[in-house]
Amino acid sequence: MRTPIIAGNWKMNKTVDDACDLVSKLRESLAPYSTVERVVCPPATSLLPVSAILDESPIGLGAQNMHWEEKGAYTGELSPAMVKEFCGYVILGHSERREYFAETDQTVNKKVKAALNIGLTPIFCIGETLEQNEAGKTEEVLTRQIKFGLEGLSEEEAAKIVVAYEPIWAIGTGKAATSEDANNVIGGAVRGNLKKLFGNTVAESIRILYGGSVKPGNAVEYFGMSDIDGALVGGAALKVDDFTAIVKAAAG
Ligand code: PGA
Repeated sequence: MRTPIIAGNWKMNKTVDDACDLVSKLRESLAPYSTVERVVCPPATSLLPVSAILDESPIGLGAQNMHWEEKGAYTGELSPAMVKEFCGYVILGHSERREYFAETDQTVNKKVKAALNIGLTPIFCIGETLEQNEAGKTEEVLTRQIKFGLEGLSEEEAAKIVVAYEPIWAIGTGKAATSEDANNVIGGAVRGNLKKLFGNTVAESIRILYGGSVKPGNAVEYFGMSDIDGALVGGAALKVDDFTAIVKAAAG
């Protein structure tokens, strides 16, 4: 049995005061759902104060990105050790990073390895554009992202990652993939490729999340699916009631 994970990706939202207010409320509201791994990923400026609020809480903390190098002249970047000071997780290869900040499968691969080396759980994001989807290229795109993004990982390392399948056309659009379609892609192209690379046992143990317009109204459908192990939530992660309802849906 795979433990479900619900991770909130706050993106570029919330100042420190607002982040602390939201996470203080989530600390209470999410407390009953201990069968779900609960993670919040605020902006970097809030990692320190939020980590203090979450101290001794089972809610995990994640960053939204990091560099792969240990240190050096990389203006504006955070190193793996800086993230590890406060976090247990790091979102890597989000489609917005790939699209607006020129991240490639190769740079994402370096980040995944750096995260594993320092003991962070990478939330490795993959997904196809609308154009690729309509051209029937979803499987081809995911196969490439998985092959190169996870290149060089041992089976033991692969077992530690979390994968988030986020069709780009579903992110922030309100046009979520149906639970059947998401499950088919996750059980097929995503878990199938993980099996080819890391073997059945490891692939069956890896949590694979769906992301893209997950809301309280549709969450329960996804979590009833055989291959969907939770969600990476954007917009709905910014509201206490919505995020709590999604976590509750995952708790069953
Ligand atoms: P959304 O974002 O829930 O707002 O669609 C998901 C994500 O980008 O992780």
